[in-house]
Amino acid sequence: MFSLTQKMEKSWDNEFQELVKALPKEDGWIGSHLYFYQGFWCPALVLKSFISFQKNFQAFASDVILATFPKCGTTWLKALAYITLYRSHFARDENPLLSSSPHQLVRFLEYDLYLNNPFPDLQNACAYEPRLFATHVPYASLPTSITDSNSKIVYICRNPLDMFISLWLFSTKLRDNNLRPLSPDEAFDKFYHGIYAFGPFFEHVLGYWKASRENPNKILFLKYEDLMEDTNSHLKNLAMFLGVPFTEDEEKQGVVPEIVKMCSFENLKELEVNKKGLHASGIPNADFFRKGEVGDWSNHLTPSMVERLEKLNQEKLNNSGLTFKLSCKTSRIFHPS
Ligand code: A3P
Repeated sequence: MFSLTQKMEKSWDNEFQELVKALPKEDGWIGSHLYFYQGFWCPALVLKSFISFQKNFQAFASDVILATFPKCGTTWLKALAYITLYRSHFARDENPLLSSSPHQLVRFLEYDLYLNNPFPDLQNACAYEPRLFATHVPYASLPTSITDSNSKIVYICRNPLDMFISLWLFSTKLRDNNLRPLSPDEAFDKFYHGIYAFGPFFEHVLGYWKASRENPNKILFLKYEDLMEDTNSHLKNLAMFLGVPFTEDEEKQGVVPEIVKMCSFENLKELEVNKKGLHASGIPNADFFRKGEVGDWSNHLTPSMVERLEKLNQEKLNNSGLTFKLSCKTSRIFHPS
């Protein structure tokens, strides 16, 4: 991913270099640059493709967009949404997840389709109708054809403590070998100040949260912890939201728990297709599967890090109505005071 980013930056023409020159710039977690554009830190790899996506993408009213914050359950949501939405197209023993990674099945707009092409062939990027795509772009920066049309958005986020740990350990694997590793304190400092791909986290999450409250028929807002606690119920809601509710017959045949099991961390992680190969952004498929738990932060964060993050949460989520569970077992909840 680091070398792909370097190649990408070298390929920018003069006009794009001029635009980039004016943007605040920081070193990212894997060694490549982040640029502050439209209120978020955009990785150098996808700055140009994000702009193409924003300018050129024409949404259909039937489109479904999976919008996520990185490390918050994108891979899981892609698997669940793909199988649920298209389940009538394949036999139960021919599940596409057995032969393709969730990221091959539901392609990212900025990290994949627009990466090297400002006008990709979107029609052939999806095997079935309606079209299903994914993005990490904040709500305020989505193409207006998505926000203004009847297309649907499913958003997933996660408590920021687990998200931070997931991001840090993921970035450690992807960081350029020639650089010294990012220490936990350095990573925490960047995290605290919102400097990471698509950060700050709270602005991203609150953008989708507010939009989903204003228009719940358009945006389904999910949290990783809730999905983990009761995947069956959330899957049924997702199917309803997507306009493909499970029939009584399907429920009797156990289709819901079957999809839940198929898309579970334990199952996906062990599939050959997810153990090998690279995503279009150069990330090994296997790196998208680590521990898949709620509350792993408690094994990594110091008490002072937890205290600072709790305070930050309280400040940022104040009066928003949004809370995060920090653990499935104890149901410890972030409440703005
Ligand atoms: P951890 O690092 O905490 O294990 P994303 O897909 O947005 O990159 O998020 C990655 C996180 O989701 C990682 O969390 C990963 O292990 C977890 N994950 C991947 N597939 C999952 C699944 N099927 N069910 C639950 N969690 C999953």
